[in-house]
Amino acid sequence: MKRLAILASGSGSNAEQIALHFETGDIARVALIITNNPTAGVIERAHRLAIPVKVCKKADFSDPAGVEKMLRDEQIDFVVLAGFLLLVPENLIRAYHGRIVNIHPALLPQFGGKGFYGSRVHQAVIESGSLISGITVHHVNEKFDEGSIIFQAACAIDKTDTPESLATKIHELEYKYFPVVVEKALGNS
Ligand code: GAR
Repeated sequence: MKRLAILASGSGSNAEQIALHFETGDIARVALIITNNPTAGVIERAHRLAIPVKVCKKADFSDPAGVEKMLRDEQIDFVVLAGFLLLVPENLIRAYHGRIVNIHPALLPQFGGKGFYGSRVHQAVIESGSLISGITVHHVNEKFDEGSIIFQAACAIDKTDTPESLATKIHELEYKYFPVVVEKALGNS
């Protein structure tokens, strides 16, 4: 049984979907959720799901005695970023090389990089006049949204779409695909 950690900064709806996906069976369990945001909705979700949750300062992520040690102490095999907004520091990427994945709410390599998160992504996609958007799951390297792509799925953008309605479509794709893509990536790790 693999032990997963999820890093999240916001509501945590993807974190919850992943936790529920692995709740039964013997493939994996979400053993730890870490957030950098003391007011993130993911904290309440973690409590409800009875998953240990830690709030860590930005500096803890790059400190080998901080988050890295926490992951080792909890014998974490694989790390999932689900709406995590900080750049993952090099020490964590080295420690979990090939075993950290992220979800991005657009079709990379477009609409990615520093500052492209959440509704800002959807706003930029709509303003560009693009007829499609989608989700990208990718390996994490030391740059925002540049690791190798594992999976993409697309949805149509209608003339009437707003950042909010597009976010709903994207979340639907995320809930449908992200947990199964994580399961596959785990199997290949
Ligand atoms: C998700 O749509 C995720 O793709 C996005 O944040 C949202 C988090 O929602 N991630 C990024 O923008 C990373 N650049 P959630 O907290 O409800 O899972």
